[in-house]
Amino acid sequence: VTILAGLDIGGTKCAISLGRLDDGEIEIIKKKQFPTPNTPEKAIDSMLETLDQLLEEHQVSSLHAIGISCGGPLNSRQGIILSPPNLPGWDNIEIVSQLEQRYNIPVALQNDANAGAMAEWRWGAGIGTENMIFLTFGTGMGAGLILNGQLYSGTNDLAGEVGHVRLANDGPVGFGKAGSFEGFCSGGGIAKLATKKAIKAIEAGNPPKYCPSVEQVDEITTKKVGEAAQTGDPLALEVLSIVGFQLGRGLAMLIDILNPEKIVIGSIYGRQQEILEPLVLKELQKEAIDLSLSVCEITPAGLGESIGDLASFSVALLALENENSKT
Ligand code: BGC
Ligand code: NA
Repeated sequence: VTILAGLDIGGTKCAISLGRLDDGEIEIIKKKQFPTPNTPEKAIDSMLETLDQLLEEHQVSSLHAIGISCGGPLNSRQGIILSPPNLPGWDNIEIVSQLEQRYNIPVALQNDANAGAMAEWRWGAGIGTENMIFLTFGTGMGAGLILNGQLYSGTNDLAGEVGHVRLANDGPVGFGKAGSFEGFCSGGGIAKLATKKAIKAIEAGNPPKYCPSVEQVDEITTKKVGEAAQTGDPLALEVLSIVGFQLGRGLAMLIDILNPEKIVIGSIYGRQQEILEPLVLKELQKEAIDLSLSVCEITPAGLGESIGDLASFSVALLALENENSKT
């Protein structure tokens, strides 16, 4: 039995979990989470405090490894978080060495999309595949690439930064760029798009369900837009139709370039699959190479709410593998 700890650092929340790996089967012992504190120092302090609590509460006498999953850009070899767009103020944070010193066990850091890809591949919707892509589609948009049965992270860890790719000349800003993949296809992007449309509609005397008055424009969230769309609100549906169209465009590009057998899409896709899937497929049929599309399955993440925990556990397993390859 191997006991693993995972830290999942996101733009909106931090989660700390303890897991147990027994004969390839993973189990979450316990998870705790809180909104991401506004400085990296506070966030790291709170995460370590929480981890210590968990270790004590569950009387863990030997923790084997810690995995950290975090939005990029980051440097996994040096264990440094560089300057993720969704974590303002986190610049050059040497998180791995801090944890190694404190716990004296193997620690590894990975991009959250790479970590999610490994988790889906080991335990979720990607089991048994050789070539699969995982897309986060949460607060941000990032991709993890499993190619030829292995994580592909690029020359300096920047493979899969699909959020940065520009899909249109104009559109919501994501990753510092208007009309980018992350601009359209992310929690933040959807809210921005919905806000712009709501302001116009309210001015025209035709407010959407997700924002009945101008006082509420600051409170528009992807969740509200999704709920309104489910009940048929035309403006919410218009927003999601743009998102679905651009997601289809983005996927067509990935399919044409990488010819994967599976694309697993996280978070928002699973919640809005009914609305997004037909839009995506329509665009894919127009844009992607038929023969490549015909072998590619597009599916929501298989791990549901556990994905963040299992993602960080899969990074902890990488830490153990790295350690073993040293000796
Ligand atoms: C980051 C990616 C990350 C994604 C999802 C993007 O803004 O650049 O590295 O995977 O967000 O968190
Ligand atoms: Na990636």
